Amino acid sequence: MKGIILAGGSGTRLYPLTKSISKHLLPLYDKPMIYYPLCTLMEAGIREILIISTEQDLGRYEQLLGDGSTLGISIRYAVQPKPEGIAQAFIIGEAFIRGERTALILGDNLFYGPGFQDPVWNEDDALVFGANVEDPERFGVVGFSSEGHVESIEEKPACPKSDYAVAGLYVYNSDVVEVAKSLRPSRRGELEITDINRFYLQSGELSVRLLGQYDTWMDAGTHESLFKASQFVKTMEETRNVKIGCIEEVAFCKGWITAGELMKLGHPLRNNPYGQYLMRVAGRGSAG
Ligand code: DAU
Repeated sequence: MKGIILAGGSGTRLYPLTKSISKHLLPLYDKPMIYYPLCTLMEAGIREILIISTEQDLGRYEQLLGDGSTLGISIRYAVQPKPEGIAQAFIIGEAFIRGERTALILGDNLFYGPGFQDPVWNEDDALVFGANVEDPERFGVVGFSSEGHVESIEEKPACPKSDYAVAGLYVYNSDVVEVAKSLRPSRRGELEITDINRFYLQSGELSVRLLGQYDTWMDAGTHESLFKASQFVKTMEETRNVKIGCIEEVAFCKGWITAGELMKLGHPLRNNPYGQYLMRVAGRGSAG
């Protein structure tokens, strides 16, 4: 399976934080935000990844992550010239997707929990995740029939039909490229991911998996949610004495890099807690 991280957009909701830096490079506690969605794809076993961002920011992601080889994965990069919608990722990524199943994850989304570790993502033609939230009107919202079947998906409805938001992680069969090409821009001028989900819903191919009791999803796209997500990472790391969103550790646990290679990644950072953690995991020879 292929993976795409969408890390472009204008980021104006976070101004002035994002006036001179891309949102997905901002810190979520002790790591750049993009580490978390990258980690989610890696935990799902995805090793071929495309990062899509703006022309001005793409170089910084390359500087941060390179070609992925130090993590035993392949990372490629593509430009989205204008923020013309999440669904455009599949058109930009067509040559990368090359007829394979693809998971798209939003660069400002954080997923954590057993539901996303070693998940089964290849059973459905289209799979999205539904999360219970306090403010559904900020998201794509799932509507259910009285029998609990998914009946509708609406983008940022004024009167949400449920408290279940569609999280920013979408898994589709390769038809998604043609589906994306068939879309017309919405009233706000974007190719909407919700329209792709509606297409699969109408053709009876969409599964909506509700998050389990121990699964967490957060988006870090507002000042408040960015702060909450940072607090969440700090609390989890301190109380459980592990790191979350640690791409080097996941690469090691998956067997994509050796203990020696992990040690090498940690060594230049040996004077800070992140490097010390990597070296500790490498020294133990198993997950932290
Ligand atoms: O977070 C989940 C929600 O994400 C879903 O429930 C909604 O259905 C979906 O439309 C989306 O809503 P947002 O309002 O949060 O989308 P936003 O415009 O903030 O973009 C999400 C991420 O995608 C953000 O990191 C920037 C990036 N992006 C967005 C657009 C529209 C791009 O890279 N290019 C784009 O053209």
